[in-house]
Amino acid sequence: MPEIRTLSIHGRELRLLRYAQVDSTQRVARGLPVGTVVIADSQTAGHGRYGREWASPPGGLYASIVLVPTPLLPLRAGVAVAEALSGCGIPARLKWPNDVTVNGRKIAGILIEEAGGAMILGIGVNLEGIPYPGATSIRVAGGRTPLSGELLTRIIEALFTPLPDEAVIERYRDLCATIGKEVSVAVGTARIHGRAVGIDRSGRLVLETDDGVRLISSGECIHLSG
Ligand code: BTN
Repeated sequence: MPEIRTLSIHGRELRLLRYAQVDSTQRVARGLPVGTVVIADSQTAGHGRYGREWASPPGGLYASIVLVPTPLLPLRAGVAVAEALSGCGIPARLKWPNDVTVNGRKIAGILIEEAGGAMILGIGVNLEGIPYPGATSIRVAGGRTPLSGELLTRIIEALFTPLPDEAVIERYRDLCATIGKEVSVAVGTARIHGRAVGIDRSGRLVLETDDGVRLISSGECIHLSG
């Protein structure tokens, strides 16, 4: 049975369900009402984007928030996680669309899935250990390691702070490590190479390629330079 409490943030009532262990907070959150937050100390079947495994031993933050769909949610979520990490002394940046990195190493991941008309925003943050080679954590990156509940509250506060879309885009652009880099983006089975020159008002990556400017809505991006 989870520990249940309510959280009131910016006039919204959230219902927080805390478990010691689940298979995946994304799975538990499916079908629960908007405003529910599921958090677990560890997951046995955590998953990330493209169906990849998300190793989830104790010592990380694993949470899923059930939300009303909004167009800029991926960007808002990236900004909220990066800003919450800044509050722990971590100079987090965003690799488009919403990998959270420090010095090019991944410290947090964001997964957004649709379920019954709602969006389930999944957030995984490495607090203590490094579950994958090449990743990092708040402790390893030299930050002040918060308790998972404390970091989650910071993220939710940032996420629910009323902010017009233009301001979200502006903050996202400031935090985005992809802009200015040579990149390769996997879109379906195609790979598009180019220089990332910006993020447009819909959150698309603006890429200068040999064939002209391309606007990319979704895909997996690799930084090739810098
Ligand atoms: C990614 O970078 O691929 C996204 C990773 C998202 C992981 C989180 S951990 C909490 C939630 N539950 C899951 O099974 N996945 C997300």
